[in-house]
Order: sequence, then C-alpha cells, then structure tokens
Amino acid sequence: MDYQQILSEIYREIQPYAKDGKVADYIPALAQVNPDCFGICITTTEGETFTLGQADTRFSIQSITKVFALSMCLSIMGSDLWKRIGKEPSGTAFNSLIQLEVEKGHPRNPFINAGAIVLADILLSHLPSPEEDYIAFIRSISGSRTVDYNRETAVSEREKSYINAAIANLLKYYGNLENDIENVLRFYFLQCSVEMSCTELSRAFLPFADHRSPFSFNGVDLTSSQVKRINAIMQTCGFYDEAGEFSYLVGLPGKSGVGGGIAAIHPRLYSVTVWSPRLNAKGNSIMGMKALELLTTRTQESIF
Ligand code: DON
Repeated sequence: MDYQQILSEIYREIQPYAKDGKVADYIPALAQVNPDCFGICITTTEGETFTLGQADTRFSIQSITKVFALSMCLSIMGSDLWKRIGKEPSGTAFNSLIQLEVEKGHPRNPFINAGAIVLADILLSHLPSPEEDYIAFIRSISGSRTVDYNRETAVSEREKSYINAAIANLLKYYGNLENDIENVLRFYFLQCSVEMSCTELSRAFLPFADHRSPFSFNGVDLTSSQVKRINAIMQTCGFYDEAGEFSYLVGLPGKSGVGGGIAAIHPRLYSVTVWSPRLNAKGNSIMGMKALELLTTRTQESIF
C-alpha cells in the first residue's frame, strides 16, 4: 500500500474544509494555537512511518491522554476497575453532568470526563509518584524521552474548570473519589496537558494496533485481551456523542482530544494520528475526521 501517496491525495482533498470550525477556546492556552496547523502520521506494524505536514510539531493531546490513563488503571486493577466506571457509550457530551447525577456518580465509561476523573483518582491512590510514573509510561510507550506535561496549559484549564469541578464534586458526593477533589482535578488537567507530536503519538498507539504482541512499558503490563478491550472502548466511546458518526465514517477505534488531535488504530496493520485544531460542535477535529474517513475509503482498510 502506498500510504505516502495516499496521504498526499488526502491532504489535497480536505482543503475545502480548511477554514471550517474553530479552536477550543474554553481552555485559554489552547485558544493561542495556530488553527491552520495540520499534521498526520501513519506507523505500520511492519515498522514503517509515513508523515505529512507538521507531523513533528507537538500539540496538547487533551482527551487522548485518557487511553494512557485507562491502560495504567487496567494494569493496576484488572476487571475490578469496572466496579467504579462503566463501559457503555454515553451518547452525551464529554463534559455532561446529567447522566452522572441520574446514575449516582458511576460514570458511563472511562473516556468521558467523569470516567477520566475517576481514573485520575485511582492513579493517585495507587502510584507511588503519580506525576512521574504517568509521564514515564508515556515516554516508554512512545519511545520519546522528552515528552512532557505543559504545566501552563494545566493551570490555565484549572482556572476555568467550572464543569469539571462540578463533575468531581458529584463524584465525591456519591463516594466515587477517594482523594481530595483539588488534587484529583490538578492531576487530571496535568494528564490532559501532555504535549506530543503526531509521530510520537502514532508510535505510542502502535502497541494497541499490534495487540497480540506483549504490552509491557515501564511496569504497565496488559494482556492481549485487555488491549483488545481498550480498542473496543475506543470504538464505542472514543468520540462521545459522535462515536457513532466516527464509526460510520471512519470505521476504526480512535480517540479524539480538544487540542485537535485524533489517534486511531487498525488492528494488526497500523496506528494513525492526525492533528488539525479546528473543531466541530462536538469538540472533534473537522479535518482530522475527514482525513481518516478518506484514509479508510482510499485504502479500503477499516475494521468493517
Ligand atoms: O477536561 C476537558 O475538558 C479537557 N481537558 C479535555 C476534553 C477533551 O479533550 C474532549 N475531547 N474531545
């Protein structure tokens, strides 16, 4: 498959959408990002890498971080994790409060904010040095020792985090947070603030594509069955109330972030990461989704 040629064709074809959507401005630090950036990277399980555009520029991975947090929590707790968080699609926005109240503090899945805030709480309870251990895992799985948090982004999000604070308060009220609310939120925002390039993220997602190979990175060990299940949750919950649309258009397990990144995998073939900061109303990258739709259409490679 000539992925490089396909990436060039895709880039040309998505140009009509270049000015659609807007960057996430509810996190002050993200509002500063140049909306016209674009990068894409495919890493195959055969060891090849194909890039186009600003594939080596780091951006805020935001909710894509939830895949790393889930991996660590599953490795720590195994299936006991599902006593604290569900694994059903929510059909609601990533920061919705309504379902959480109706379901008495039991988040629908680990990828909505409520679920990821519980993941942060679990990591705080179990990791000896949560901040260091979290970033060490990402450095190990991406093979990039310089990947880091952006503490300014994390602080800027905390300053405006009225909804996430409300979610954390509801979780605490229903007994689903062990740690102090402020500490959990601080750690959650720090996880979201990690900056990676498309190339680094693509490398970090390759073990999810290659899910039959041993998954063992800096003490985070998962069985192939656990990795398969993380992929299943990406497929059903990775795009919140647009998970059905992403599945319909693209047909790959994936995870989006409001920094404009999307990471997706084709089991046994490749991982692909795309970055374009302009978002649609559901908080997902417009050109990113379009590029991935064209990728699976052109290659006729999707999981369906
Ligand atoms: O909690 C938030 O709102 C952000 N730190 C992450 C949200 C996000 O990336 C949603 N994804 N599309």
